[in-house]
Amino acid sequence: SSYQNIVVETRGRVGLITLNRPKALNALNSQTMEEVVAAARAFDREPGIGAILLSGSEKAFAAGADIKEMSSQAYSEMYLADWFAHWDNFTRVRTPTIAAVSGYALGGGCELAMMCDVLIAADTAQFGQPEIDLGVLPGMGGSQRLTRAVGKAKAMDMILTGRRMDAAEAERSGLVSRVVAADELADKAFEVAETISTRSLVASLAAKEAVNAAFETTLDQGVLFERRVFHAAFATEDQKEGMSAFAEKRKAEFKHR
Ligand code: HXC
Repeated sequence: SSYQNIVVETRGRVGLITLNRPKALNALNSQTMEEVVAAARAFDREPGIGAILLSGSEKAFAAGADIKEMSSQAYSEMYLADWFAHWDNFTRVRTPTIAAVSGYALGGGCELAMMCDVLIAADTAQFGQPEIDLGVLPGMGGSQRLTRAVGKAKAMDMILTGRRMDAAEAERSGLVSRVVAADELADKAFEVAETISTRSLVASLAAKEAVNAAFETTLDQGVLFERRVFHAAFATEDQKEGMSAFAEKRKAEFKHR
């Protein structure tokens, strides 16, 4: 492939994106994030892909945005380039995304993981927003997504002191959904991605939209959105197949339409 800082492969219905800048602990420079967004969007357009699994290395999911790339930027340069705005496009991907986090997920690395729909952590994972130590603050959603994930008390604590959260605290606090042994992370995370990918694609995409609506709207509007989309699911072949399979006591074979 034409990517320099990531490795991209397809396994069954799962699209795999692996951050691959080992010498910089997967620090996210512009090139790397452009590649991540491009690869995720390409998978999103492929009807044969039902889940996207994003991983780093054993030592680091990603140690942050690239400090060396940023350090000499002036305000006007950052503002005019709208620095980090492009990264948001990762959250516009409709296919479910799974982050497999081992080792450091700091700053932009933590923020990228939080942009994923499902977070699975190795017991070695360390989450943090240490930007305060650099004289700045989170810049790609950390102050918003961490606060929504773990609440104000822990978000303020982490963002103002720069302290890290280990995997156990991250699970306790609702930042990640599962913690697994480090040497099992790749297999377990793939299993989760594969499970998601084999379900009805229309249902998965709609379910992701519905959950995300919970962050953007009132309860009443969110419940209404869910109900409308639920009704619409009855226009799909997969709904007929899923419910017939249940009645016939067999495994559903979704056609993903
Ligand atoms: C650029 C980085 C980097 C980063 C690590 N490296 N993190 N380069 N940007 N974020 C590079 C190091 O410079 C070093 O390169 C190599 O990776 C290995 O790192 P070491 O520090 O030697 O490893 P270690 O001693 O094991 O320490 C690991 C670490 C430490 C604790 C993760 O690297 C660290 O504190 N990194 C910075 C974490 C951080 O502050 N992240 C937030 C970034 S700001 P050389 O060439 O020296 O060998 C951000 C938010 C953006 O993400 C929002 C606005 C700023």
